[in-house]
Amino acid sequence: MPDLNDATRGRILYGGDYNPEQWPEETWTEDVRLMRQAGVTSVTVGVFSWARLEPAPGAYDFGWLDRLLDLLHGAGIGVVLATPTASPPPWLGHRHPETLPQAENGTTVWYGSRNQFCASSPTYRRHAAAITEQLAARYGAHPALTMWHVNNEYGTHCWCDETAAHFRRWLQDRHGTLEELNSAWGTAFWSQHYAEWDEILPPRQAQYIRNPAQLLDFARFTSDALLECYTAEHAILARHSPAVPVTTNHMPFWRGQDGWAWAQQQDVVALDIYPDPDNALGAQHGALVQDLARSLAGGPWMLMEQATGAVNWRPVNRPKPAGLNRLWSLQAVARGADAICFFQWRQSRQGAEKFHSAMLPHSGTGNRVYREAAALGADLDRLGPHVSGTPVTAETALLHDWDAWWASEQPGRPSELLDYQENVTAWHRALWEANHTTDLAHPAADLTRYRLVVIPSLYLLTDTALDNLAHYVRTGGTLVTGYFTGVADHQDRIRPGGVDARLREVLGLAAVHQWWPLNEGETLRCTGTEDFHGTLWAEELETAGAETLARYADGELAGLPAVTRHGYGRGTAWYLSTRPEPDALRALLTRAAREAGLHPAAEQLPAGVEAVRRGELLFLLNHGPQQASCELPGHWEDLLTGTPGTGSITLERHGAAVLRPATP
Ligand code: GAL
Ligand code: ZN
Repeated sequence: MPDLNDATRGRILYGGDYNPEQWPEETWTEDVRLMRQAGVTSVTVGVFSWARLEPAPGAYDFGWLDRLLDLLHGAGIGVVLATPTASPPPWLGHRHPETLPQAENGTTVWYGSRNQFCASSPTYRRHAAAITEQLAARYGAHPALTMWHVNNEYGTHCWCDETAAHFRRWLQDRHGTLEELNSAWGTAFWSQHYAEWDEILPPRQAQYIRNPAQLLDFARFTSDALLECYTAEHAILARHSPAVPVTTNHMPFWRGQDGWAWAQQQDVVALDIYPDPDNALGAQHGALVQDLARSLAGGPWMLMEQATGAVNWRPVNRPKPAGLNRLWSLQAVARGADAICFFQWRQSRQGAEKFHSAMLPHSGTGNRVYREAAALGADLDRLGPHVSGTPVTAETALLHDWDAWWASEQPGRPSELLDYQENVTAWHRALWEANHTTDLAHPAADLTRYRLVVIPSLYLLTDTALDNLAHYVRTGGTLVTGYFTGVADHQDRIRPGGVDARLREVLGLAAVHQWWPLNEGETLRCTGTEDFHGTLWAEELETAGAETLARYADGELAGLPAVTRHGYGRGTAWYLSTRPEPDALRALLTRAAREAGLHPAAEQLPAGVEAVRRGELLFLLNHGPQQASCELPGHWEDLLTGTPGTGSITLERHGAAVLRPATP
C-alpha cells in the first residue's frame, strides 16, 4: 500500500486548498507564480468542484482542470486531487430528492450550502462513483498527481427511510436475530420490544429519552455507512493508480467517525485543525488532536487544513497575532506532521467563506499574513530533510475510544457535566503541560511499549479491553484510571456490581457504592499525600487492598477514599474518583509518571514552553505571553536559524527552535 512518504519524498509538503474555479484563468498564472514565491509544493484541488466538472448529469467538463493540472505541474507543484462528492450539485437534489438527508424530525436538508447527501442513498452512491471513475481514469497517471483526497470531512447524518432500511441490514449483520437485537437494546423496558425488522427505525425525534443502546448502534452504523462511501471511492481510485496514496480529512476530535476504524482504510491520515487563536489553551487543543492524528496514522500524518488567521464560523473570529501561525505549524511538525497545509490559498471574494483567512489575503502580497506564509514555506523547506518520515516516540498513552464516547454521552446519565471531550482535554492538558509526549491508544491495543497509561474516563469497556488492561498492569505497567470507568459492556449493559469485577481487582477496590457528581463550580477538598480540590465528579468508594493516597475532607463523603494506588502483579494501578483541579491533576500524573520511571521531553523549562522530541530533534515552542529562556544540556544546532549553541537559548514570544545535537 502506498503511504505519505510516496507523496513527501523526503520533504514536508506545504500548501493548501486551491479553489481556482472562483477566478478567471489569468489569475491562475499569478497564483502559481506567488505559490512558488511562497514555497508552496502541494495544493488540494477540486474539493467542491462537482457542479463545475459535471454541470448536468453525465455531461462532463474537464478542460479547465486539464489546463490547471498542467500549469501546476509545469511549476513543479504537486496536486492532491479531490473527488468532489462532499457537495453534490443542485441538479442531483432537484432530480433525486431521495439523495438529500433528512433530520431527526423528518425535515429535508436542502441544497444551497454543502454536504447535503445521504450516505445510504444508492442514487447518491451511484453518482459519486461515476464522477470518481471519470476523475480516476482521466488523471490517475497525470504527473502532477501526488495523492487522492476523497470527499471532505465526512460528517452528514441522516434519518430517512433509505437510512432506516440500511440500518436494519447493518443490525442484522451485527445481531443476527431479532431476539438478539431485543436483548442487546434492552427493549423489555418501556414496551419497546420489536416483533418485526421493519418496525425498527433510526432513533428519530421522540417523546422522551430514547433507547441508549439504539442510539449507540446508530452512531456505530452512521460511522460505518460513511466509511462505506469512502472505501467505495478509494477502491475506484486505487484501481486506476495503485501507487498513489488515498486520504480523506477528518475534523479534529470529531465524534461522528470511529477514527480507529477509518484510519485502517486510509493510506494517509489527514486532519483539519482550527484552534481558537483567542483561547489561551488553543495550543493544547492543537497538541491533543495532533497526538490523535499521529496515533491514528501510526506514524507521520498530514495537516490538511488550518487557518493562517481568522476563521468565519465562530461568533467572534479573531486573527492570529504575528508568529502564531508559524508556531502552531511547527508544533504540528514536532508532533509528527509531514504536510502543513491551509484552507485556502487565495481568499474568496464571494460565498460563505469570504471572511475566512487564506495564505494570500484580499489585500495581496503586502499583507503580513502572506509574508509570514512565505517565510514559513522557507522554514519547512529547511526542516524537511531532517524530519520527514521520522517518528515521534511517546512512552505515555491516553486511552480513547469512540464506542465509549458515544455510550457515555447518552441522555439520562448521572451528570451531563462529564463531557467526554472536555474530560479527555483536561487529562491531556496535564500531561502536555508536564511535557510528557502522549499517544492516544485504543483500550484493546497493545500497550506494552508504554510505561504509563491513563484513562480519563471510559464508561464502556469491552471484555477484551478489560483483559488487556489487567494484562498490562500485571506485566509491569502503570495505569492511572479516572472515575466512571468500566461501567458498561459493549452493548451498554451495566456490568454486574456496577463496575467490572476485573477492573476492581486490578484497582484493589471492593465497590463503588454511589456516583456523586458535583455541581457546576462545586469543589471538594481532599487531603492526604496529595492535598487538592476535586471537581466535576466524586464517588462513594470502598477499597479492598488499595492504599488510599487522598481522602475527601468535607461533606457527605468525608473520610472516604478519593485517590488510591494498588500494586497488582508487577505493576501499579491508580484510581482517581474525582478530577483534581488542573495544577493538582498535573502534579498527580507527574508523580505517577516519575514512579513509572518516565522523564519529560526536556526538564526545567519555563512555564509555557512546550518540548517535543521527534527523531533526534528537540522542538521547543514558546506558547507563553513573553520571551522565555531555556537552560539546555550539551551542544546543539538550531535548524531554523542554522546557528550552533550551548547552554541556554532564548525564545521570543511565539518563538520556536528545532535543535539537533551537535559536537563542540
Ligand atoms: C473545513 C472545510 C473547509 C473550510 C474550512 C473553513 O471544515 O473542510 O472546506 O470550510 O473548514 O474553516
Ligand atoms: Zn438518508
